[in-house]
Amino acid sequence: MFSNLISKYNVPGPRYTSYPTVPYWEENTFSLAAWKESLKRSFNDNKEISLYIHLPFCESLCTFCGCNKRITKKHEVESPYIESLLREWDLYLEVLGEKPTIREVHLGGGTPTFFASENLKFLLNMLFRKANRDCQTELSFEGHPNNTTKEHLRMFADLGFKRVSYGVQDYSEKVQKAIHRVQPFENVKRATDQAREAGFESIGHDIIFGLPFQTKNDIIETIEKTKLLMPDRIAFYSYAHVPWIKGNGQRGFKDSDLPQADEKREMYEVGKQMLEAAGYVEIGMDHFALKTDSLYKALEEKKLHRNFMGYTTSSGASMIGLGVSAISDSWYGFAQNEKSVEAYQSLISDGIIPVFRGHILNEKDLTIRKHILNLMCHLETNWGSTEDYFEELPEILGKLREMETDGLVSFSENGLTIPEKGRPFVRNICMAFDLRMQERKRDTQLFSMTV
Ligand SMILES: C[S@@+](CC[C@H](N)C(=O)[O-])C[C@H]1O[C@@H](n2cnc3c(N)ncnc32)[C@H](O)[C@@H]1O
Ligand code: SF4
Repeated sequence: MFSNLISKYNVPGPRYTSYPTVPYWEENTFSLAAWKESLKRSFNDNKEISLYIHLPFCESLCTFCGCNKRITKKHEVESPYIESLLREWDLYLEVLGEKPTIREVHLGGGTPTFFASENLKFLLNMLFRKANRDCQTELSFEGHPNNTTKEHLRMFADLGFKRVSYGVQDYSEKVQKAIHRVQPFENVKRATDQAREAGFESIGHDIIFGLPFQTKNDIIETIEKTKLLMPDRIAFYSYAHVPWIKGNGQRGFKDSDLPQADEKREMYEVGKQMLEAAGYVEIGMDHFALKTDSLYKALEEKKLHRNFMGYTTSSGASMIGLGVSAISDSWYGFAQNEKSVEAYQSLISDGIIPVFRGHILNEKDLTIRKHILNLMCHLETNWGSTEDYFEELPEILGKLREMETDGLVSFSENGLTIPEKGRPFVRNICMAFDLRMQERKRDTQLFSMTV
């Protein structure tokens, strides 16, 4: 029965870290001036901002990786890149016109821990110097277990970082070789223990199901090992196979080396059962957290938010993305930076905010954005008030009737909820609301499969 549902609904679809999703941005009506205006509008509503800082360098290529990264062993790239980030920050401060309060900083990548600890310390201190921060500012970073050192952890902890997520992926040797990422359990244990000793309160592990040559047993063993360390959060990602975008790495193995949809779903089911039995609660899509973690508390208090970083506990503030390929979000608009290090640095040295595309949301986009966020974060949405209603809604609800018959959504008078059975199909339900995608009917092969 469940496998029938999988074959029926397993289609390519977005992960809804934004609405509209990037391929459906209206780029021809976007301009840097409009982006700056949207940021100022948002800053007038709320003087807090979140910062995402993209640190793209990695020493070695993992062949499954879908992130924007630059592979190099030359650490001379660190200082010029940091100079560019600081100049970009100055350009944004000019737009804001007054000192912002930083609500959240997240260092992502690539591999932030590619950078020497003293370089990261310099970068962060220089960023903080021009803004206000308080004890509620949430600071976090993505660490590679193979190269996160005690010095990194001590430096981050001294600056107030409390959260780290480590890339684990899978512990099986066969899978690790296939994805070109050899990383024994001892390395993850060391990095996890050292983070706890340094005072980190929330440690996350990223695990992926659906990797080449991976079996259900590999997932069971990976989660058994994960339980020995009991990270506070677990991102349990479905492997996103998008070789048409990430050509260089993801072509390193054949499609036939990947587990098929049914097998992949079983991996998710077994993983989910094991995690729940160990005390983790599923948060939205892909994420699990212990009840002591702030992500779980945000879910309980209905304060969960989703953006380009995935699920977060902070909402409201604009997010400024610094660095190559980083995406900024003012709520009223999105903007993405140049994707190559050279193009990014060249615009910065000319004193130009290095965005190359974006989208300014109209009223209908904003309403739909709210519904999709509600569905992705809280598995429910409603349209009781006039500002949550839009003219195409009845048609959208009509499209969802078949999913209702299949038990994947249930309707109330002015709302809908997604029951447990519908949870794996949340992306499909969001797709019914995605008018931008329906209007443009562009090739959906831009996305990975929904299930
Ligand atoms: C920037 S990396 C984490 C930090 C560091 N670079 C590392 O690899 O340990 C972000 C995470 O994205 C996830 N990821 C990357 N490519 C993916 C893909 N194709 N499908 C699913 N998850 C992916 C991985 O779990 C990875 O740990
Ligand atoms: S998974 Fe992490 S370390 Fe590997 S290539 Fe991607 S960003 Fe770099």
